[in-house]
Amino acid sequence: MKGKVLKLLRQNDNTFLSGEKISNELNCSRTAVWKHIKALRNEGYDIIAVQNKGYQLTKSAYLLSEHDIYSRIKKNDLFENVVYHNSVTSTQTVAQQLANEGVGEGTVVVADEQTGGKGRLGRVWDSEKGAGVWMSLILKPQIDFRKAPQLTLLTAVAVTRAIESVSGLPLSIKWPNDLLVNGKKLCGILTEMQADPDRVQSVIIGIGLNVNHGGFPDDLSEIATSMNIEAGKPFNRAEVIAAILNEFSWLYRTYLSQGFSLIKPLWEAHAVSIGKKIVARSTAGTTEGYALGIDDEGVLLLQDNQGETHRIYSADIEF
Ligand code: BTN
Repeated sequence: MKGKVLKLLRQNDNTFLSGEKISNELNCSRTAVWKHIKALRNEGYDIIAVQNKGYQLTKSAYLLSEHDIYSRIKKNDLFENVVYHNSVTSTQTVAQQLANEGVGEGTVVVADEQTGGKGRLGRVWDSEKGAGVWMSLILKPQIDFRKAPQLTLLTAVAVTRAIESVSGLPLSIKWPNDLLVNGKKLCGILTEMQADPDRVQSVIIGIGLNVNHGGFPDDLSEIATSMNIEAGKPFNRAEVIAAILNEFSWLYRTYLSQGFSLIKPLWEAHAVSIGKKIVARSTAGTTEGYALGIDDEGVLLLQDNQGETHRIYSADIEF
């Protein structure tokens, strides 16, 4: 209910909304409306009340809250359930635990801070409080486990489209999961799967997006960037999250009904590593050559200097 009050106030940005109108719209008492306004103020929302006029949301600051996210999620989105934490070790771990306990598809775990954020290949993911979008999506797709990497590429497309629409920033995708602006990393995606030999049990997709960082420590400043640094202004993280969930929802539904073939051209339209000479490093070794493209499964095709084509399932790419 608190989220619905916030949604109404936001829809009427810069105008007053009377307590009577809110109570009629939401079918609740004026006292209940006042209680929710008070609770929203306690969360940091700047809501002014003027006699005979009503309430107005003056600024939502850059605070993140469960209700703010809820109030922005579109009606038909896949994600109906938001689990919000101020601070967790890793949203991946929380999401995996929920999935194991039987929580179904359509739940997203969001945190304002991660104290042990996980990156790919066992790396640490720096997750500063209040600065980024640190979230994990719980999925339970009925797909062959070999197809799970396609979901990483689908997520890259969803996040790219969402950020472009919210900020206008031009993003490029570096296979398989890095989103870059001006050659620096803005977002990373970590896909973790639990599967039986014959079916996927759950896929947890972690998204780490640098939003309002004003700068990075010396060791990262050459390779990492944020939406704030690139666009020169901060962004409301709940709006960014809602945009990602909305893009993800339709792409994922399209994928489940029609397969990867419709997602592939969207991914290719943003890919930077394709057609270039690259070095792919993985636990299996290092391969150098030309990135020919991805196949229908989302696997990277790399032609080495002897003309032999390698299928790369997982690696770090340099170009
Ligand atoms: C990468 O190495 O590029 C992937 C980084 C993924 C980071 C995100 S932040 C939300 C989720 N929780 C984690 O601990 N990791 C992922």
